[in-house]
Amino acid sequence: EKGGYDHFMLKEIYEQPNAIVDTYRGRMLVDKGIIRMAGVDDNIEKFTNAKRIIIVACGTSWHAGLVAEYIFEDIARIPVEVEYASEFRYRNPIINKNDVVIAISQSGETADTMAAIKLAKEKGAFVFGVCNVVGSSISRETHAGAYTHAGPEIGVASTKAFTTQITVLSLIALKLAKAKGEINNADFHYHLQELDLIPGKIKKALEANDHIKEVAKKYMNAANFLYLGRGFNFPVALEGALKLKEISYIHAEGYPAAEMKHGPIALIDEKMPVVVIATKKGHYEKVVSNIQEIKSREGRIIGIVTEGDEDVRSMANYVIEVPDTIEAFTPLLTTIPLQLLSYHIAVMLNKNVDQPRNLAKSVTVE
Ligand code: F6R
Repeated sequence: EKGGYDHFMLKEIYEQPNAIVDTYRGRMLVDKGIIRMAGVDDNIEKFTNAKRIIIVACGTSWHAGLVAEYIFEDIARIPVEVEYASEFRYRNPIINKNDVVIAISQSGETADTMAAIKLAKEKGAFVFGVCNVVGSSISRETHAGAYTHAGPEIGVASTKAFTTQITVLSLIALKLAKAKGEINNADFHYHLQELDLIPGKIKKALEANDHIKEVAKKYMNAANFLYLGRGFNFPVALEGALKLKEISYIHAEGYPAAEMKHGPIALIDEKMPVVVIATKKGHYEKVVSNIQEIKSREGRIIGIVTEGDEDVRSMANYVIEVPDTIEAFTPLLTTIPLQLLSYHIAVMLNKNVDQPRNLAKSVTVE
């Protein structure tokens, strides 16, 4: 049932190219330049009239929400707020009639997310669900939704659910951008073509597996890790740190790269591995100067870089390459090496990768 893999987590990491195809199959018609999603099409005015979108979720799904915030604001120009469901539900939040609430949940059973949905409905919001488990409580409680179609995720650490959530949310953002006239036809087409190339590029990113194992071996005994990223890849840094914490029990923190100088830089010494997402997009030059700051304090640098990168390579202890894509889709690629890194470290430390201590696959209590 693990399909020849040692763990469900590894199997699910490797399933991502196909899972993403399953997510967009029948929805994204590249040649025709169309995105069809019944749950969005049937409610298109609610989305296009929305003054803002509020995303509620927990854990990894919350990280997917943060990535979506960057994508929605960049492509569809709709303001987005991303909330931990557990905070939102107890805060007497301000919800206006025209707000659209998007709830993201792999299991569709998370108690806090469910409570946030009920609250939003009571206040008159339109609530849209992005779930993986078909027929789950959250998929039934929401007004409309879109499934991720990632297939069953058994490993407690979420992997393919995360990348397929980002895929669904990217499709929605593109659809709304088109409906609102925020994107021209050529650019829309270009995005569809690039999204269509992502599964092949993930396969390419997975080829770094043996090299990532070497990196894991080198740093498996570190007591702490720092993960840094900017822009679309800031949430990926948070997700990378969460993956490491939950399955290897090594303390890790994710930070926006530029915030390092406001505190975490004090932690850096020769014992601190720092994973820096530094793809050749957006804030590349700035991230390179963050890397210099880490290097001058003797931090150990693991760079996640675009194929062919030389600047980071010349400074880093290790680099792991991912293929190039448009900036908004880089999280779908940069996430892959971080999943593999945490997986290999946990295996080398003899931890129970698929069932980490104290964690459950669906958190049905608050
Ligand atoms: C992380 C993880 C958890 C879940 C969180 C939300 O790997 O598995 O952080 O992401 O409990 O779960 P869902 O998405 O089922 O609502």
